[in-house]
Amino acid sequence: MTDTPYIIDRPEDMVFRLNRRTLADPAVLEAERSAVFDSSWIYCGHESEIGEPGDFRTRDVCGRPVIFARDSHGGIRVFLNACRHRAAQVCREPCGNTRRYNCFYHGWSYNQDGKLVGVPGEDSYPPGFDKADFSLAEAPRAEGYKGFWFISFNPHVAALDDYLAGAREYIDLVVDQSPSGSMQVVEGTQEYDIRANWKLLVENSFDDYHLLTTHKTWLDYMKDSGVNVEPPAGQGLLLPSRGIGKGLGNGHAVIDNINFRGRPVARWISIYGEDAKPEIEAIRAELVERLGEARAARVADTNRNLVIFPNLVINDGSSITIRTFWPEAADHMKVTAWALGPAEESERARARRLDSFLTFYGPGGFATPDDVEALESVQAGLATWRETEWSVMSRGMNKTGEQLNTDEEHLRAFWRRWNELMIADA
Ligand code: FES
Ligand code: FE
Repeated sequence: MTDTPYIIDRPEDMVFRLNRRTLADPAVLEAERSAVFDSSWIYCGHESEIGEPGDFRTRDVCGRPVIFARDSHGGIRVFLNACRHRAAQVCREPCGNTRRYNCFYHGWSYNQDGKLVGVPGEDSYPPGFDKADFSLAEAPRAEGYKGFWFISFNPHVAALDDYLAGAREYIDLVVDQSPSGSMQVVEGTQEYDIRANWKLLVENSFDDYHLLTTHKTWLDYMKDSGVNVEPPAGQGLLLPSRGIGKGLGNGHAVIDNINFRGRPVARWISIYGEDAKPEIEAIRAELVERLGEARAARVADTNRNLVIFPNLVINDGSSITIRTFWPEAADHMKVTAWALGPAEESERARARRLDSFLTFYGPGGFATPDDVEALESVQAGLATWRETEWSVMSRGMNKTGEQLNTDEEHLRAFWRRWNELMIADA
């Protein structure tokens, strides 16, 4: 039993309540900046985005500007984007390739390894000034798992592999789609704002309870277009039900669903049209040959919406979307999303993937605008948090075994971890 200012969690009574203040109160956001974000591993970028020595991407992670970069030896480094002289940003481009990071303020320059190599008028500094003391600072921790790179501002955070816990199995199911194990972020980024608390997007990213109501327009469109949204009889049995939801440890969680609308790697119903079939079948045959029938089916015939605590979502369905978001305020987040695909993919397969990235998952697609509207409506309702304190999140608590994708066990897994960190920090 857990009773805190944030959650009431009584499995024995089948009760789980969430205090609405957690989604609306600016004081909670202030507390979670250190308790949640600065104590965890936070997604920074994918290795494919910086292929060559000198490649860089500037990002904001945990409210700090960073440079996600390849050094002169091809190693991945995450520099803090602040000049060691007086803190101006030494890199002001979103991406590129450079031999030097040149600070435009007084002209200090740093090489690809972050070493200070140029100081205009260096002879005016007193004796004892040594450029070796002023290399660019780096994120306290930076580690990658199968191409996905995370940083942490907590020097004592557990190793990334341990932190990811059961989420690794689901990242593997994504990466196994590439014959060489090389996934690639496709150039082009979706960026948008939602007037809602960031944790509402965590919930929404794998809340399948809302599918039939919020996304009715899309489901009707699918039916009208002749797409059957049910798996063919006898073939939906890879999982015991059409979908399950579960916690994966450390606040990570997933919904793991039978695919019902087509995947770039799946058989059955294809949203990609008849002419795509031969290539999709060839992709499927390669998977079977490389992984065996059972693993190929696991990779290709199930979708997964994975939340990696606290703010990374990998949606692996009709395309693969990496989505991360950052709170600008208690009621406002900025969302960034990238499409991911096997590096070896053909142009036509890539085009199909990007179409789905745009028309389904994109901010102007079939799914996201409805979700954004729902989240902003929730946030408007949350202005009443002082009058109506608690939300209900107990779906599935009456079951001992497997929980469905439409239950809320996976949401509770996120909130339990969030609560633990908030209480520990307080
Ligand atoms: Fe960068 Fe002065 S702040 S050179
Ligand atoms: Fe949705």
